[in-house]
Amino acid sequence: MNSASSKLNRRDFAKATCLAGAALAASAAGSTPGQPAARQVRVGVIGCGSVSNAYLPDLVKSPFARVVSLCDIRPERARRQAERFGVERHYPDLAAMLGGEPFELLVNLTDMQRHEEINRRAIEAGKHVWSEKPIANSPSAGRELLRMANRRGVRLWGAPITVQSPQFAFMAGALAAGRLGRIAAAHAEYGHEGPDWSAFFYEEGGGSMPDLGVYNLTSLTGLLGPAKHVAALVNIVTPERVVGDKGRITVTEEDNAMLLLDHGDGVLSHVQSGFNYFNPHGHDGNRETRHTLTVVGSHGFMGLVGYDWGPLGVDLATKDSPKLERHATDAQGYRWEQGASLAAECLATGKELLVTPEHALHVLEIIVAARESSATGRRVAVDSGFKWPVIA
Ligand SMILES: NC(=O)c1ccc[n+]([C@@H]2O[C@H](COP(=O)([O-])OP(=O)(O)OC[C@H]3O[C@@H](n4cnc5c(N)ncnc54)[C@H](O)[C@@H]3O)[C@@H](O)[C@H]2O)c1
Repeated sequence: MNSASSKLNRRDFAKATCLAGAALAASAAGSTPGQPAARQVRVGVIGCGSVSNAYLPDLVKSPFARVVSLCDIRPERARRQAERFGVERHYPDLAAMLGGEPFELLVNLTDMQRHEEINRRAIEAGKHVWSEKPIANSPSAGRELLRMANRRGVRLWGAPITVQSPQFAFMAGALAAGRLGRIAAAHAEYGHEGPDWSAFFYEEGGGSMPDLGVYNLTSLTGLLGPAKHVAALVNIVTPERVVGDKGRITVTEEDNAMLLLDHGDGVLSHVQSGFNYFNPHGHDGNRETRHTLTVVGSHGFMGLVGYDWGPLGVDLATKDSPKLERHATDAQGYRWEQGASLAAECLATGKELLVTPEHALHVLEIIVAARESSATGRRVAVDSGFKWPVIA
C-alpha cells in the first residue's frame, strides 16, 4: 500500500473540508433575505471522526438544520468539532447525548459496526435517524429497525445518496425513455488503497463492499432494478495493515470483491470494489474523469464520468447519434455529503428523498449474499425489493 500518497490525499481532503466548515460555521445557517425562515430541525451528530469533516460543513449551512449537540466516545474529538463548528453541547456517549440537549434527528457517523445499536437506541428514544452505511449489521436487523421506526412514527435513512445526483437522474431518465434499447449489461467499479486511520474498515462488519462497493450497488440497482440473484468472489489481498488507531492489524474482512448481479429480464451487471486499487486521486472525486459506471443496450451506451458519489457528467452514444456526447455536467447543488441535510429538509418541509431505507437494506442483502456466494461457490437468491424505478 502506498500509505504516503493516501495519507497526503486524506490530509488534503480533511484540511479542505475543515476550512470550509469553519467558514460556513462563521456565516451560520439562515434564511434567504425576504423569505420566511425555514423550520430548523434540531440535529445531534454522533461520531466526530473523518467523515464529520464533510458532513458538518453541510449541516451548519443548511437552512433546515440546527446542529445542537455532538458526541464521540473520544471526547476530545467532539469538543474539537463543537468549537470548530460552533455547536453548543458535546457529549462523551450516546446515553448522555440522548439525556442532554433535546434534538429530533440523529446523524450517525460512527464506525460501521456501531451503527445498528446506536440507530436502535435513537429510534427507541423517538429520534429520526440518518445513518452512514450500513444501517445495520445484517438485513434482518435492519428490517427490524425499520419496523421499529415505523411503529414509533420516526424516519430512518441510510447513506449513500448516489440516486440523488442529476447524473443519476439523467441515466434513469434515459433508461426509462428506452434510449439504450434492450438493456443487456452494466459495470461499475470503485476502489482505492484503503483507509489508513481506523481498523474497523478491515474488521468483521467492515470490508470494501459495505464501504465502497455500496455506492455502485446502490447506483446499479437504482438504475436497473432490484437484484434477483448474486454470484461473487471475494478475498483478502492484504492480510495485514498498519492503521492510525490500532497500529498493525490482521485484516479479517474482504478487501477485494467481484459481484455479478442478475436483475431479471436478462439484465446482468458487474460490480468490483477493493482496498488495493491504485488510485491517483485518493478521496478527491472531482479529479476522476474515467467512466466508472457504464450501461450498454441494443441501441446505446452510457458512461458515468467520475465516481457515482461525485459524478461530473454522463457520456451517451446511441445508434441515432453514435458519437459520445456529454450530458448532465451541472451538479445542481448535489454533494455526496448532504444526505443528513436532505433528511433535515424532508423533516422540515415534507420534501421526500429518492433515498429509501428499503433500497439501503436491499444493497445490504446483496453484500451478505455476495459473501455467501463466495464461500459456497453458489449463486444466491435475493428476496428484498424497493420502490423502483427511482425517478422523481
Ligand atoms: N471518511 C470518509 O471519507 C467517509 C466517507 C463516506 C462515508 N464514510 C462512513 O462514515 C462512517 C465513519 O467513518 P470515518 O472515516 O469518519 O471513521 P472515523 O474512525 O474517522 O470516525 C468514527 C468516529 O466514531 C466514533 N465512535 C465510534 N463508536 C462510537 C460510539 N459508540 N459512540 C460515539 N462515537 C463513536 C469514533 O471514536 C470516531 O471518532 C463509516 O460508516 C464510513 O463508512 C466515511
